[in-house]
Amino acid sequence: MKVLQLSVLSFLIVILSLNGATLAHPYGDFLHCLSLRISNSSTISKVIYTQNNPSYSSVLNASIHNTRFATPTTPKPYAIITPLKTSHVQSTIYCSKNHGFQLRIRSGGHDVEGVSYVSQVPFVVLDLVNFRDVKVDTKNEVAWVQSGATTGELYYGIASKTQTLGFPAGICHTIGIGGHLSGGGFGILGRKYGLAADHVIDVKLVDANGRVLNRKSMGEELFWAIRGGGGNTFGVVLAWKVKLVPVPPVVTVFTVNKNLEQNATKIFHRWQYIAHKLPNELFTAVWVMKVNSSQVGKKTVQAGFRGMFLGGVDELIPLIQHEFPELGLAKENCTQMSWVQSILYFGGLPIQPVNILLNRSALPVSSLKAKTDFVREPMSETGIEGFMNMFLEEEADFAITMIEAFGGRMDEIRENELPYPHRAGILFESTYIVQWTNEAEAGRYISWIRRLYSYMASYASKSPREAYYNYKDLDLGTNNIVGYTSYEQASVWGLKYFKNNFKRLVQIKTKVDPMNFFRNEQSTPPL
Ligand code: FDA
Repeated sequence: MKVLQLSVLSFLIVILSLNGATLAHPYGDFLHCLSLRISNSSTISKVIYTQNNPSYSSVLNASIHNTRFATPTTPKPYAIITPLKTSHVQSTIYCSKNHGFQLRIRSGGHDVEGVSYVSQVPFVVLDLVNFRDVKVDTKNEVAWVQSGATTGELYYGIASKTQTLGFPAGICHTIGIGGHLSGGGFGILGRKYGLAADHVIDVKLVDANGRVLNRKSMGEELFWAIRGGGGNTFGVVLAWKVKLVPVPPVVTVFTVNKNLEQNATKIFHRWQYIAHKLPNELFTAVWVMKVNSSQVGKKTVQAGFRGMFLGGVDELIPLIQHEFPELGLAKENCTQMSWVQSILYFGGLPIQPVNILLNRSALPVSSLKAKTDFVREPMSETGIEGFMNMFLEEEADFAITMIEAFGGRMDEIRENELPYPHRAGILFESTYIVQWTNEAEAGRYISWIRRLYSYMASYASKSPREAYYNYKDLDLGTNNIVGYTSYEQASVWGLKYFKNNFKRLVQIKTKVDPMNFFRNEQSTPPL
């Protein structure tokens, strides 16, 4: 029946309008091509979701983590393909290429600009939701993890086998491995061990010609590019082999909240001079947001000083008292737990049961806009005051800035070791996020975050003003949606994400995908 439906569809020509011009699009040909290659009708129904399929919307929405891109006017894919095996991925590439569809690859769906599931030109989504195996080998301290798995599934897979190994990746447990590792991946083990991408030792990738490559067969240049140079630019990464890292069986986490009336500005000012120099075992961050003041009906701004120490509380307290007495850290601010529980603590979840890490919808989803900065010089006290005061504005009701200390291992890794260049000399990275519930008012909130970003210009890194590729920001510049994008045009955003590594990324792209099949608003273009 399904085959019949598809073959009828293959005779259809979908007429669509793009930029005022009307053109014919061979939608049916794409489906025909794919269904012929998959051939088995019961498999086809598990792999191809067209807009007529009753499950289409639920499959599309399942991993959308920014509802700003889930409105009725958001462009939708012609089909969502959920491959069950490698040959389905190869076929999707082949048929998209031959029938003029752009391909968007989705693993965990956390792309903050929706790039993995939205495009302005006819497109299909390749959703790796069925590629989520995690195989942990504690003897060799490695794991093979498929791209559609979440960081939480990897963390859980490790912790269910051992308490003394971990993996240095992001805080949020619902992030997909595919996007996260291909863009870098920084989290609470970052000062001790560096990025998630620093620990990738092999991959399985399907390139634009449908070839299945590993580290050896792709060569060191392409292997360099996909570890931080961005997903959806060089191919579909199906799986990653990662090196695990030692963690102690007990770690200590803490939170000390200070608001404007409790000297938050002064303590934050001091933190900037200390946090990047603390022992590598101690990660600290400051989370800034609007909160209720102790005065009824009033609001204030809170700086939440949060940390994770790879050791016990009795070692941590004297260390902080010596290095950062202004924080006033006390035993009651601290909790000892396992490394894997610390992920839940930072994610704002109960630390038991740990299997909540397997729940992909444990975190609320909203509409949001994010921007990032890397800061190399401490901000002045008045600078911090102005920044904090912006959170008193109405649009900042659901805004947060997560400021994470760098230094440690990040200082030791060369800027060109991987495409991700933000290493030595960075004091901290700031992720600014604003959220809203009423889509009709999105503009107000987006303009607030743009003002916050303009305000920070004098304090952030300069020439270029560095930005973190894993929190894409299309305000920084985009490629042409169709046609050629020059190196100069792409450099506007490319140098901010990759600094001097951008040139090398362009050269690799030119070699491995000269026809620019894998493309999006901020994919590295070929020359
Ligand atoms: P998604 O599936 O949307 O993909 C993101 C990009 O990668 C897209 O361009 C996509 O096409 C491409 N891609 C995905 N899978 C691919 C594959 N298999 N092969 C090739 N390309 C692929 N970052 C961080 O460093 N530390 C953190 O703590 C957090 N925390 C965090 C929390 C929340 C709530 C959000 C929304 C985001 C973060 N991030 C983060 C940023 C996160 O690392 C970034 O958004 C990742 O790209 C998400 O990867 P997903 O696979 O989930 O996204």
